[in-house]
Amino acid sequence: MNSKFIALDGVDGCGKSTQAAALAAALAEDGREVLHLREPGSTAFGEAIREILLKKNIPRGVTAEILAFFTARAQLLEEKIEPALARGAWIVCERWVSSTYAYQSAASGGSSSTVLALEQLVVRRAPDLLLILDLPAADAAKRLRGGPDDIERRGLQYLEKVRNGFLEYSSTRAFVKIVDARGTPAEVGARVAAEARRG
Ligand SMILES: Nc1ncnc2c1ncn2[C@@H]1O[C@H](COP(=O)(O)OP(=O)(O)O)[C@@H](O)[C@H]1O
Ligand SMILES: [Mg+2]
Repeated sequence: MNSKFIALDGVDGCGKSTQAAALAAALAEDGREVLHLREPGSTAFGEAIREILLKKNIPRGVTAEILAFFTARAQLLEEKIEPALARGAWIVCERWVSSTYAYQSAASGGSSSTVLALEQLVVRRAPDLLLILDLPAADAAKRLRGGPDDIERRGLQYLEKVRNGFLEYSSTRAFVKIVDARGTPAEVGARVAAEARRG
């Protein structure tokens, strides 16, 4: 079976973790080797960067933050994604460049050309398929309960800007598909699985 690199992205609470777990399990049941990854993280270096990024009490500028996300991403590509694809495995990855574009640029005012230049520099292997789980910010906020992290505390208006950032990024990339993330986990899962198995 050929390898495939699938990324799931979208606003906090849209269902990435839920759908990534379901998709990875379904693909593995077919007998594939599947790596379920999350960004930033899924390497020792990336998880250390994640810890720092989630601590909002450590002051930093948005450009430094963009670089930190791409640092973790560079390590993930080199250490996990590229070798796995080379041996024929499938990747299911939570978040991608679209998150950096949406959060750090569209919603936080960071330079979009910095994000896109770093994408050119760092991402030698783009996803075969990037699914944006699209959900109105109010619906996403309703789903978030129990310990939201610092990024998730910034409110509805912010989430709406993030959502628009995802849609803007999507409009420029042929490998992106927007998936309606409303409905039950099973309903959304059926949409995700149909896209994942296509082609
Ligand atoms: N389709 C859905 N309908 C209602 N609640 C959902 C749905 N998908 C996920 N959830 C719940 O919403 C919350 C956020 O989902 P999660 O998968 O963690 O989203 P994300 O990883 O995108 O932040 C979780 O409590 C999850 O159980
Ligand atoms: Mg999650």
